[in-house]
Amino acid sequence: MDLTTIESDEIGTVAGQPAARATAARKVFIKTYGCQMNVYDSQRMTDALTADGYTATDAIGEADLVLLNTCHIREKAAEKVYSELGRIRDMKAERASAGREMLIGVAGCVAQAEGAEIIRRSPAVDLVIGPQTYHRLPNVLARVRGGEKIVETDYAIEDKFEHLPQPKRAEVIKRGVTAFLTVQEGCDKFCTFCVVPYTRGSEVSRPVAQIVAEAERLAEAGVREVTLLGQNVNAWHGEGEKGQEWGLGRLLFRLSEIPGLARLRYTTSHPRDMGDELIAAHRDLPSLMPYLHLPVQSGSDRILKTMNRRHTAKDYLALLDRIRAVRPDIALSGDFIVGFPGETGADFEATMELVRQVTYASAFSFKYSPRPGTPGADMADQVPETVKDERLQRLQALLLKQQQDFGLSLVGSTIDTLIEKPGRQAGQKVGRSPWLQPVIVDEKAGEIGDIIKVRITKTGYNSLFAELA
Ligand code: SAH
Ligand code: SF4
Ligand code: F3S
Repeated sequence: MDLTTIESDEIGTVAGQPAARATAARKVFIKTYGCQMNVYDSQRMTDALTADGYTATDAIGEADLVLLNTCHIREKAAEKVYSELGRIRDMKAERASAGREMLIGVAGCVAQAEGAEIIRRSPAVDLVIGPQTYHRLPNVLARVRGGEKIVETDYAIEDKFEHLPQPKRAEVIKRGVTAFLTVQEGCDKFCTFCVVPYTRGSEVSRPVAQIVAEAERLAEAGVREVTLLGQNVNAWHGEGEKGQEWGLGRLLFRLSEIPGLARLRYTTSHPRDMGDELIAAHRDLPSLMPYLHLPVQSGSDRILKTMNRRHTAKDYLALLDRIRAVRPDIALSGDFIVGFPGETGADFEATMELVRQVTYASAFSFKYSPRPGTPGADMADQVPETVKDERLQRLQALLLKQQQDFGLSLVGSTIDTLIEKPGRQAGQKVGRSPWLQPVIVDEKAGEIGDIIKVRITKTGYNSLFAELA
């Protein structure tokens, strides 16, 4: 999962308002924190709300409803929400003095983890809704507009995805040629540092037919690249179209048959769920991009054990050997935690050594953040902040060097690029490489949605520059 906090204010504005409404449509502003799954959820909430008569706005000042879709993964992520709520509370008060209402809702993983505590701490909040109940949002909002304060954090028994409306075709087109599609949610692994099993509940896989239908709808609206999402996406399993048991590898084969869908990805995967069929998909499916996010967290077996990852560093390296044997151009990405309780200097060196052995194309690394309710928070030998800082700096310097070397290794080569959007500078367009790097090309190189061959001429800080090959 991409752990840099995504702050997507641009959930988008829907063109045109429902014709039948006598009053001006209510406007919703959604701010998204956390991982890609929250980005996907925000889109689905937007779809549910537009079906309910709202229009999406990216101007918070004109919103009748402000929704924060929050992340609880680290303390900083959760605290951000409260500082943002302070700011929004002042806007709400201003609006009230002008005689207009502004409702405030908190969704996502902080909502699930803290529930009613959010309203106690921030009384301006009108509604708290956990990730498993987004399909109830219109109903809940109707009650909130009637003056109730609502906290809705059940793990709903009904399938929320079945009840959430699909986006309109125009909306999919506006969102662009790449899209997320959640296929699996929740986690049963209980790593001792992690809140996800508590905020997202236990593992649930969406049925094949639902996923295929959604992917077909995306492709039909012009989406070229789909990233399948799940907290443990490679634990996805389902009943195939002829009643047989499918794993993620088989699902990828099925999705690759959809006309127009040229590229497939999946994230985040767990090393313990990399099955043979999935590895075979990397060998046999040209549309499956040669890029794999496979977090390892630590290179020390002792720490992996107390983290409850249930594999060793050697297991992880052996797995990578098997994947690289069938797909030699695969690039690796990972997540790391430094300063987990009990991590010694030698444990940390083992992580550095593993990174040197693997060579990552990109990676996310974090200082361990004790999370309430997780076993790690109560472990002895918490590592001092200064030690965590020093380790993180060293690890990040190594990972950054590897990322830059990877970019440089591509200079002079010819690669496929999916043209995604206009560039920041006039005369440019931005594409996406098979390894998720932004590729800057001349705007005349191709149209949005085209996959073109380009030659890499140089690297930027985080991007590649290219010319038509
Ligand atoms: N399911 C994925 C990870 C989801 S959470 C997996 O098993 O790999 C995303 C990342 O956040 C984790 O990989 C981990 O690196 C980081 N993370 C999770 N809990 C954390 C914590 N308490 N402190 C610091 N980083 C954490
Ligand atoms: Fe968290 Fe571990 Fe589950 Fe990943 S596998 S979501 S790190 S508990
Ligand atoms: Fe954060 Fe929840 Fe995703 S805790 S990383 S938003 S699953």
